[in-house]
Amino acid sequence: MPATDLTDLAEGSEAERAADALANVARDAHEDDLAGIPAAGSDTPLAQAVAADTRKRISLTGRDLPRPASTRVLTVANQKGGVGKTTTTVNVAAALAQAGATVLVIDLDPQGNASTALGIPHHAEVPSIYDVLVDGDPLSTVVQASPDIHGLWCAPATIDLAGAEIELVSLVARETRLGKAVRAYVAELTERGEALDYVFIDCPPSLGLLTVNAFVAASEVFIPIQCEYYALEGLSQLLKNIELIRDHLNPTLHVSTILLTMYDGRTRLSAQVADEVRSHFPDQTLKATVPRSVRISEAPSHGETVMTYDPNSSGALSYLEAASEIAAQNAAEKNEERS
Ligand SMILES: Nc1ncnc2c1ncn2[C@@H]1O[C@H](COP(=O)(O)OP(=O)(O)O)[C@@H](O)[C@H]1O
Ligand SMILES: [Mg+2]
Repeated sequence: MPATDLTDLAEGSEAERAADALANVARDAHEDDLAGIPAAGSDTPLAQAVAADTRKRISLTGRDLPRPASTRVLTVANQKGGVGKTTTTVNVAAALAQAGATVLVIDLDPQGNASTALGIPHHAEVPSIYDVLVDGDPLSTVVQASPDIHGLWCAPATIDLAGAEIELVSLVARETRLGKAVRAYVAELTERGEALDYVFIDCPPSLGLLTVNAFVAASEVFIPIQCEYYALEGLSQLLKNIELIRDHLNPTLHVSTILLTMYDGRTRLSAQVADEVRSHFPDQTLKATVPRSVRISEAPSHGETVMTYDPNSSGALSYLEAASEIAAQNAAEKNEERS
């Protein structure tokens, strides 16, 4: 290749130079914007909240997040109902997919709330996770693509799943059926040259066979904790169960992630619950907390996650922040392996 071509390549084309110049302007603007935003501690609580949101928006949105070296399977569990399991599952999954990951949500709650929130049809005739668990159908025959977000997939739950808890009792390998299906699905995708980065399993609020299947299928447990008075009640029971599963069925299972949800920064109670959780689980508890937000609770009725319903709302931004911390765990794990 003649030298002139090399020089041309090194300097880049006119168009590339223009693009670089624009990128520099954009980057400087980001830094200027960040510098201009008041730090927490100044002004009124409202001004602080707005400033914090703006910081998150500028520093997090539109970024690609690091992807894991191999598929991470996380079971989102807490036997209390209404603590934000489903909300956390769908929004963290959506945020990771928006940041370039391939993500599968397995709806393991007969209520089918995760399917609804992701806009995935799940009426009685739809092939669902029931067919996988009870009939042994491959996951690939029930998985549907999200209508809104590229790279996001869902294995829906239909009302049939309500019977599965009892039907599973008499089946062989009743605790390991989901795990087997997930492993086969990951292998099937790998064979096709496709990577699956994350699987999130949304559990029902009980510790029956469905949840046991989820604990056997995953290596990580992701616990959302609602910042309320009774939040920590039942947590020790959950931890005991995780230990039992680890001893008997799945030695790799561990609590990797805890997220404080419905956090109200104005109340002493939220702060107390958060302190207590952080003191027991300093490494697992994410820095991000999810505030109570009307936009978060409205999104499912539109068949959407808050990540598309109102991406600039404080709820969406905190889920994005949580997702970026979860993705950062990938890099941390890689470093640990290396050292
Ligand atoms: N951060 C939040 N702000 C406001 N409402 C929320 C928030 N998180 C969850 N909710 C609402 O609380 C209810 C229970 O949440 P959900 O995720 O379904 O809990 P779970 O799956 O643990 O039963 C739902 O109506 C949901 O929309
Ligand atoms: Mg739920």
